[in-house]
Amino acid sequence: MGTRITSGIERGSPIQIEVDGRALQAYEGETIAAAMIASGITSFRHTAKHSSPRGIFCGMGVCFDCLMTVDGVPNVRSCITKVREGMKVRTQDEHAWGEHRDSLGEEHHG
Ligand code: FES
Repeated sequence: MGTRITSGIERGSPIQIEVDGRALQAYEGETIAAAMIASGITSFRHTAKHSSPRGIFCGMGVCFDCLMTVDGVPNVRSCITKVREGMKVRTQDEHAWGEHRDSLGEEHHG
């Protein structure tokens, strides 16, 4: 069983990002995914086939479940991308993910 970290954490300065047009409190040094989870947002994109929600799975840049569009750039792994003041993040649409999979030569399974 895990334990909650209760001391020894130093947060960066508070900043603000935008997620799907909504202002979101974040802290310098944390990832987009961390800021979203801390705000109770768990759905980062939807799959192409069934439109199933996806969020954090591996948390280390391997699974691609956390892809989001950041400042107009699609397919950004939010679990390894740090926040910046004024960053505009959008929930990943299925079309952008499908194009990414096509570029990899994979079939759409989602
Ligand atoms: S959660 Fe797996 S790549 Fe981000």
